Amino acid sequence: MNTFKALVVRENNGYINYQVENHLKKDMLDDGEVLIKVAYSSVNYKDMLAVQKNGGVIQSYPMIPGIDFSGTIEESTDSNYAVGQQVLVTGYNMGMTHTGGFSEYARVPSSWIVRLPENLSMKEAMIFGTAGLTSALSIFELEKNGMNTSLDQAILVTGATGGVGSIALQILSKAGYKNITALVRRKNQVQVAKKLGAQKVILLSDFEFKKKSLAKQTFNYILDTVGGELISNLLPYVCYQGSVSLCGNVGGIKLNTTVLPFILRGINLIGIDSVNISQDYRQMIWSKMAKEWKITNSTLFTDITLDELPDTIQLLKEGKHLGRTVVDITK
Ligand SMILES: NC(=O)c1ccc[n+]([C@@H]2O[C@H](COP(=O)([O-])OP(=O)(O)OC[C@H]3O[C@@H](n4cnc5c(N)ncnc54)[C@H](OP(=O)(O)O)[C@@H]3O)[C@@H](O)[C@H]2O)c1
Repeated sequence: MNTFKALVVRENNGYINYQVENHLKKDMLDDGEVLIKVAYSSVNYKDMLAVQKNGGVIQSYPMIPGIDFSGTIEESTDSNYAVGQQVLVTGYNMGMTHTGGFSEYARVPSSWIVRLPENLSMKEAMIFGTAGLTSALSIFELEKNGMNTSLDQAILVTGATGGVGSIALQILSKAGYKNITALVRRKNQVQVAKKLGAQKVILLSDFEFKKKSLAKQTFNYILDTVGGELISNLLPYVCYQGSVSLCGNVGGIKLNTTVLPFILRGINLIGIDSVNISQDYRQMIWSKMAKEWKITNSTLFTDITLDELPDTIQLLKEGKHLGRTVVDITK
């Protein structure tokens, strides 16, 4: 590699700008034992925050964003990883304080690497991406707390047409769940959510929240991707001994609740983090995603090039982005 191309975020006189730059030198990449030729990356909500001023993601500039990628090892000083091996990386400090995946090359610590599971291509890994990993972790944790296909439990997915929510609907449906409700904000998302696997769809504006500590027991399990006011309003509707997984903050970071759903209905609130989970847990969840939870053959996703990335980030900023977008770095 002499020079390479990447999306670069820079700060100039207090302004943040980002564009695809050519002819970048290797010393632009942060340290690590393994140099990887990136094949695919994907677009996540956090990437949109990364290119915003005060987005709370990037700490110092210039920075290559991109919180996940798959690719092939080109150089390695760790004997556990060989040149030519196909791998994927998500989370840690990537695209935040360590140069990330919106780039033809990435250099990372070998401890961050997940071996590409059998039966999953590099492209499929990024159709899932960080959003898919987060959905899978949420489902795994809810199942640990009793969610089970053999019982007719009512499951609600919020932010259901977003990256995490759309993959969650597809995995739940593939796994055999038959009582899945999607919560969406816009009418044109109703059919989309049904296609993704929801049997029922609730339009947020039609849901009349009773602002009480306890409301009618309606959902056994909630896979929440929104946080804030929405999940605060939904906790009173969780059934006795039900569980809620919580991974996102698109709806805000404040959680306004009372102890009553917890102490009178014994509900669980399970925090989901995909960034710093252990390698063993990561590898196990990725192998489930490559086997019984593999939905990538039927997933609808948008395929873009690195040059088209700024336009997609703009769609995310405007709230017009649907589902998953894969960045094909090889084009
Ligand atoms: N914990 C982790 O490790 C982890 C990993 C990945 C993602 N996340 C977080 O998970 C969240 C979702 O990520 P994503 O990639 O799925 O984002 P996304 O693709 O932007 O989707 C967000 C979804 O939430 C909906 N939404 C936004 N604001 C809402 C509100 N106030 N009330 C109801 N619905 C609302 C959006 O609906 P519209 O289409 O109507 O706008 C959209 O369906 C983000 O906060 C992200 O940072 C966390």
